Amino acid sequence: MAKILVVDDEKSIRSTLKDILELEKYKVDQAGDGFECLVKVKQNNYDIIILDIKMPKMDGMEAIDRLTELSPDTPIIMISGHGTIDTAVEAVKKGAFDFIQKPMDLNRLLITIRNAMDKSCLITEKKTLQKKVNNKLETVQMIGNSKGIKQVKDTIERVGPTEARVLITGENGTGKELVARSLHAKSSRSGSPLIEVNCAAIPSELIESELFGHKKGSFTGAYKDRVGKFESASGGTLFLDEIGDMSLSAQAKVLRALQESRITRVGEEKDIQVDVRVFAATNKNLREEIAKGRFREDLYHRLAVIIVEVPALNERKDDIPLLVNHFVDNICKEYGMAPKKVVGTAMKALQNLSWTGNIRELRNVVERLIILSKEEITKKDVELFVTPSSGDKSGINRLIDKFDDLPSLQAYVKNEYIKHKDDVTVV
Ligand SMILES: Nc1ncnc2c1ncn2[C@@H]1O[C@H](COP(=O)(O)OP(=O)(O)OP(=O)(O)O)[C@@H](O)[C@H]1O
Ligand SMILES: [Mg+2]
Repeated sequence: MAKILVVDDEKSIRSTLKDILELEKYKVDQAGDGFECLVKVKQNNYDIIILDIKMPKMDGMEAIDRLTELSPDTPIIMISGHGTIDTAVEAVKKGAFDFIQKPMDLNRLLITIRNAMDKSCLITEKKTLQKKVNNKLETVQMIGNSKGIKQVKDTIERVGPTEARVLITGENGTGKELVARSLHAKSSRSGSPLIEVNCAAIPSELIESELFGHKKGSFTGAYKDRVGKFESASGGTLFLDEIGDMSLSAQAKVLRALQESRITRVGEEKDIQVDVRVFAATNKNLREEIAKGRFREDLYHRLAVIIVEVPALNERKDDIPLLVNHFVDNICKEYGMAPKKVVGTAMKALQNLSWTGNIRELRNVVERLIILSKEEITKKDVELFVTPSSGDKSGINRLIDKFDDLPSLQAYVKNEYIKHKDDVTVV
C-alpha cells in the first residue's frame, strides 16, 4: 500500500485529507509543521509528501530544501493558499512535483497524486534495473592480476568472439562458471541466452529429456511436450556444467547433437536443427575418466577444442588482496554500509591460509568477517572467525592427508585426542 505524508498546520485539513486518501486506499501519516515532517521522513519511507507552504516553526519552502537532500526521489506536492501561488511556483522550480491550490479540488488532487505515484514507481523501477545491470557487471567482472588469471583472461579475449567450443577445468569454486559467462559475454551470441545445465544435479534417467526435450506420454511423468535445453539455447550458448558426471548414454546423444547440430526429442522421430555453441566445465580429470571408461574420448575431443584451466586460489595467492577488497566493496554495498577496511596484518593472515574451497570460500569468509568484525577487519578477527577447515591444514584436512599412512594416523589421532580430550564426549 502506497504511503503518503500530509504536512499542514491546520488539523482540519490534515484529517480531511487523511479520510479522503484512506478511502482511496492510501496509507496516510500526518505532520503539523516542517520540523515534524523532517523527523517523520527520517524514520519512514514515503511514496509522496503533500506539503503546505505557510506553517509555523519551519515553513514549506525551508522544508523542501531539506527534503530534497533527505529523500531526493520522493515526489512533493505543495499546497498553496491564495497569497502563496508565486511561492508554490518557486517550489516547483526547486524540485517539487506540482502544487494544488486551496480550496482543494478533490479530483485534481487525486490525479496529481496518481501522476506523482507513477513518477515514484518509475524511479523505483529504474533503480531496480540499475541494480540488476550492476549485479550483471559484477558477475562478469573477473578479478586478478596473477600470471594464471591473466592467461585465463587473455584466452577469453581471444576465444570468446569465435565459435569454438571450450572445456573449462578447475577445482570447485575457482570460477569456471564465471569463465563461461565471460566467454559468452564476449561472443556475437551475447544478445541471446546462455543456458546452463548442471549435469550432476539431474538424475541420469531425466538428463536426456532435460537436454533434448520430450513428447507428451513418452515416459511416465511426461504429461506434456517439453522443449529441451539444446533447443532453448538455439542461437545462443549451452553451458554443460559438471560434464564429468554425465551418463555414458547421454554422452552418446550429446556427441551426436554436436556432430550433426541436430537433436531428437525423447519419444519423437523427427530431427530438429539447432544452432548452439557449447561450453562444458568439470572439476574432474577427464583424461583419467576416459582411461577408466567413464567418459567418451570422442566427446572429449569434440568439447575440448580450447581448454581453459582455471588455477586454484592456492596457486595465485597474490590475487587475494584484490579479491578481498573487491568482495568487501560488493558485500558492504549489498548490506548498504560503508566499505570496511581490512588491516594489513589481517590481509597477510588471509593470504597465509590454505583455500581448498577456492574463491567461493574466500567470498564466504569475507562476508562472515564483515558481519562479525567491528569497525575494521583485524588479524584477531581472522583468527577468531575463520575456522581451520576453511584455512590452514588442520583438523579433518590434516587427517585426510595422513590416510595413506596408517601407523602415523593412529599416532596423530591419539595426539589430537590428548590435546582436545576436554572438548570430546565419547558416546
Ligand atoms: N576471478 C574472480 N573474480 C571475482 N569473483 C570471482 C572470480 N572467480 C570466481 N569468483 C566468484 O566466486 C564464486 C564461485 O565461482 P564459480 O561459481 O564461477 O566457480 P565454479 O568453478 O563454477 O565452482 P563449482 O566447481 O563449485 O561449480 C562466484 O561467486 C564467482 O562470482
Ligand atoms: Mg560451477
